[in-house]
Amino acid sequence: TRLAVLFGGRSGEHEVSCQSAASILAAVDRERYDVTEVLIGRGGGWHVDGAPLPMAEALRVLAGQDVVFPALHGPYGEDGTVASLLEWLNVPYVGNGVLAGAAGMDKEVTKKLLAADGLRVTPGVTLRADEELHPDDRRRLGLPVFVKPARAGSSLGVTRVDDWAALPDALRLARTFDTKVLVEQAVGGREIDVAVLQYPDGRLAAGPPLEISVTGAGFFDYDAKYDGGAVFQIPAPLDPATTALLQDRAARAFHALGCRGLLRVDFFLPELPHPGAGSRPDAGPTYGEPVLNEVNTFPGFTAASQYPRIWQQAGVDFSALIDILICGALT
Ligand code: DAL
Ligand code: MG
Repeated sequence: TRLAVLFGGRSGEHEVSCQSAASILAAVDRERYDVTEVLIGRGGGWHVDGAPLPMAEALRVLAGQDVVFPALHGPYGEDGTVASLLEWLNVPYVGNGVLAGAAGMDKEVTKKLLAADGLRVTPGVTLRADEELHPDDRRRLGLPVFVKPARAGSSLGVTRVDDWAALPDALRLARTFDTKVLVEQAVGGREIDVAVLQYPDGRLAAGPPLEISVTGAGFFDYDAKYDGGAVFQIPAPLDPATTALLQDRAARAFHALGCRGLLRVDFFLPELPHPGAGSRPDAGPTYGEPVLNEVNTFPGFTAASQYPRIWQQAGVDFSALIDILICGALT
């Protein structure tokens, strides 16, 4: 099977994509797959097996494959633009299509679609270029808030604001990534990721929930994500009903966005206030409806990233995972 792995890209997550692709290239079975490496440079130039090529020729190489594995994160990669190219080339590809990629990249659109399907999402407001946060929204959201570019990943351009005086700088930073910015309530609670995998026969599986604990003072930002500043626990210590609830919500998000192949769904799980007198004193914590923070239509894919580690824990090792996704693309 001729397989091209497509990676790099123009987004701020170029380096993360290179790491995801390096893990895929190291794990893919070379007896079964005849592999071509296609790198998109930071400036948008294309390279096939290390040699620079004009885009039109690189696309001809892609068109000659049996299947393409886009291992791209962020805008111009994960946002449907590359899926659209591959649709035009009429070549099968792993993972999400144009609509899911575009909708999943834009946090405002993602939340609108999920909320319309009855899922609980992080409260927040969207600010377009030059818009300010209205005083009513300050009161409604309260501190702290998270300021985020609408279309970016890996927490690039995200700031936690603990004091309104810090809001203008946070907005300025987010606006270096996107003209559209979100100001979101800090939901609190436990931070849990759920991985959804679609088998080639169409069946969906949701993996064991992964809990993120940030070891430093900050939140799960770029450094915590890639410099070992976070610990993952799989499965998260949760009662079976809460696990099932999270998995159900993740599968519903997959359908709401019209996904294919894979999706990582990131939640906050709010702890409810302690029940009053009369309840069992030994009862564990109880949780409210999970709050869906965001989705990743091509989640980080290094062997140490959440998505592959969740499946590893569930008994699907990294090369089996790659095979399932490729078989799904070819079905
Ligand atoms: N956007 C990064 C790759 C992630 O969510 O894993
Ligand atoms: Mg993300």
